[in-house]
Amino acid sequence: MTSCATPAPFTVGWFTGWGVPDWSGPWAGDAADTWVDGTFTVETVRELDRAGVDLVVMEDLNYLSDVVGGTFEQELRTTARAPKHDPVVLMSRLAAETERIGLIATASTTFWPPVELARTYATLDHLAGGRVGWNVVTSTGDRAAQNFGLDALPGHAARYATAAEYLEVVHALWRDGSVAHRGEHLEVTGRTGTRTPAAGRPLVCQAGASPAGTALAGRFADVVVSYPPGIEAMREFRTQVRAAAEAAGRDPDDVQVLYLVTPHLGETDELAAQAAARYYDPTDAAVRRRLVQMSGDIDFSAFDLDAPLPDDVSTEGSRSILENLRRVAAGRTLREFIGSQRSEAVRLVGTAASVADQMEDVLAQVGGDGFLLFGGGGGVLTRRYVRELCDGLLPELRRRGLAGLSATGDPGATLRDRLRTRRREGVLR
Ligand SMILES: Cc1cc2nc3c(=O)[nH]c(=O)nc-3n(C[C@H](O)[C@H](O)[C@H](O)COP(=O)(O)O)c2cc1C
Repeated sequence: MTSCATPAPFTVGWFTGWGVPDWSGPWAGDAADTWVDGTFTVETVRELDRAGVDLVVMEDLNYLSDVVGGTFEQELRTTARAPKHDPVVLMSRLAAETERIGLIATASTTFWPPVELARTYATLDHLAGGRVGWNVVTSTGDRAAQNFGLDALPGHAARYATAAEYLEVVHALWRDGSVAHRGEHLEVTGRTGTRTPAAGRPLVCQAGASPAGTALAGRFADVVVSYPPGIEAMREFRTQVRAAAEAAGRDPDDVQVLYLVTPHLGETDELAAQAAARYYDPTDAAVRRRLVQMSGDIDFSAFDLDAPLPDDVSTEGSRSILENLRRVAAGRTLREFIGSQRSEAVRLVGTAASVADQMEDVLAQVGGDGFLLFGGGGGVLTRRYVRELCDGLLPELRRRGLAGLSATGDPGATLRDRLRTRRREGVLR
């Protein structure tokens, strides 16, 4: 079912991190050397800024995992999640090197002291003229906890209960510069000594999509990172987030649900289909990489590859990621689905014009807010990939008045203002 309403402008962001891009494929260039000092990421974000991408979300993992096989070997061999630097540290440089793009860095409510987080992000927001956001995560994995002096990661419910109090505390610190909070999970008394952030407060982005994660997003998030698999799941998830916002007394239009996608472009639809076929080919290397990416606190390599995912697998890490896997697996064996499964909501394949059509069509069906372009899921992130999207897809979307509009927007606008204006323009069209 496709809606015939006039298409409204939507948000296009980019999801990446300060990790290892594709460093060994034919278009890797010097990425193996230039990711370490930030050059690759800085150059990428400058390209995105030039192309009018609205925001970049810098994911992070604050530990090295040995969940897969009890060693670090697979983790480091596949470079799917490690090594990785702290994106918060890169933010001030990104602020200086870009003009309009929103800069969102991940930090965990389970491990950062709230006063330090409020101060750091307020400071960054001044440096970037109101373009900064915080991607709120609660972390996954006991190894993360051990990096911070705990034996094990607090359970899922406990982490989210802490996160809710944490967000209240941080908002109070941004608003008043001080807080005296004595709650069930947190006790914080502090003064940041930092001026109120440039944009009043940084944008809040949220990435967990379990029921607890959705409730948290409804209360606090401006932007939600997600990849519910397929149109139906996308629509369902967005409805849940909007309902959670309404239940928290907010205008649901103040929360944007963005879907991860990895578009495959070509000069013709046929060439694009060939590139996509290579990307989704379930080779042994692809299976190994996905096993590592999926293994938060579960060792997926311990399961029989030729059997379906066992029913009794559960996680204290990300429940929505496990749930997405189950939906995609649909009873198939691990080997059958895992090699071609990616962290993306829908597949977008074709010429720039075809992919723009597909994006319009998907959003018409889910009623959605926009996309997060993601070149990291299968290790496809190269300078070439960034250029294809920035010089192929974004100009096509801009010609249609749909996205990439930050390229010509007011450079003085704050990130939250820009997203809100886009929404108003959409309503007025
Ligand atoms: C799309 C997506 C992206 C995520 N990115 C990160 C991340 O960069 N760093 C991190 O520590 N956790 C990340 N997470 C984990 C969650 O943010 C969350 O804090 C937690 O692990 C529980 O997730 P759940 O609500 O899906 O169960 C991500 C989760 C999702 C669904």
